[in-house]
Amino acid sequence: MPPGTDQPVRVIALMNQKGGVGKTTTTVNLAAAIAELGRSVLIIDMDPQAHATLHVGVEPGAGEDSPPTVYDLLLDPSIGLDACVRPVTERLAIVPAETDLAAAETELAGAPDRNRRLAAAIDRAHGAYEFVLLDCPPGLGLLTLNALAAAQEVIIPMQAHFLALQGVGKLLETVRMVRDQVNPDLRVAGVVLCMHDSQVSHSREVVDDLTDFFEGQRDSGMPWAHARLYRPPIRRNIKLAECPSFGQTIFQYAPWAPGAIDYRELAESVVAEWDRAVRRAALSEAEIRVLRGQPEPIE
Ligand SMILES: Nc1ncnc2c1ncn2[C@@H]1O[C@H](COP(=O)(O)OP(=O)(O)OP(=O)(O)O)[C@@H](O)[C@H]1O
Ligand SMILES: [Mg+2]
Repeated sequence: MPPGTDQPVRVIALMNQKGGVGKTTTTVNLAAAIAELGRSVLIIDMDPQAHATLHVGVEPGAGEDSPPTVYDLLLDPSIGLDACVRPVTERLAIVPAETDLAAAETELAGAPDRNRRLAAAIDRAHGAYEFVLLDCPPGLGLLTLNALAAAQEVIIPMQAHFLALQGVGKLLETVRMVRDQVNPDLRVAGVVLCMHDSQVSHSREVVDDLTDFFEGQRDSGMPWAHARLYRPPIRRNIKLAECPSFGQTIFQYAPWAPGAIDYRELAESVVAEWDRAVRRAALSEAEIRVLRGQPEPIE
């Protein structure tokens, strides 16, 4: 993976303060699917539970001699992202977590830049990875705030239950607060429905409610004004629940299981959306040059 290529980087926080909704499963398997599409992907495990780290078969750091983890990255700004990265497959890598990460909340409490430690570390890495996926812990503490300060986009994994909808207002409010105070580029890209059962009628009602809510927000000026419900929903699939205990992604464990098919299709949609955004940005740069009468840069 070329370090420091300065290519555009898409940093996505997989966030929901509710526990057990599919954040880690989505982070790991979406990342693996994007890597299978030929893009370089880095997972950063922001959760002291270290579930993403274990899911990809990396031993969470422990002890003095182990390589640095996301805890070290947050605590010591002199440590570069590269030093913490462990390879998983050819194009997939992870910055692992360890249980000590829970202590970072208190250890950083007095630091004025405590919310931007992760953002600064990613900025210093200058686009070595095209996609950076941040697996957030359940909760809205300092670790989640660091992820939101570093991300351009939030993807919300959730289940289509009425109860699951209850926390979404608070989640969106947190995103708005971070956009207003710390990270003006932050926006909600959308919701991924996890463990989905389309046969259940109340799931269908929740999907309709969510779709109507986002449609009604298009002119709101809020960070979720362009959010959408990603397709396809991720079906409930036992293979997805089994593969973490083997330290494998679904593509290593059961590449043709329904869970693999769903995450592959989701990745295609996420990558296509990014390619369109990069093309649009390149186009508008070219248009600005034409308007200013400047020549095309020589490659
Ligand atoms: N589509 C699915 N089908 C079956 N099981 C799933 C699916 N998605 C996730 N699971 C299982 O549900 C549980 C919770 O998922 P996961 O760990 O991804 O949630 P989380 O939001 O990251 O949880 P936490 O808040 O604790 O970090 C796990 O045991 C996982 O294997
Ligand atoms: Mg998790």
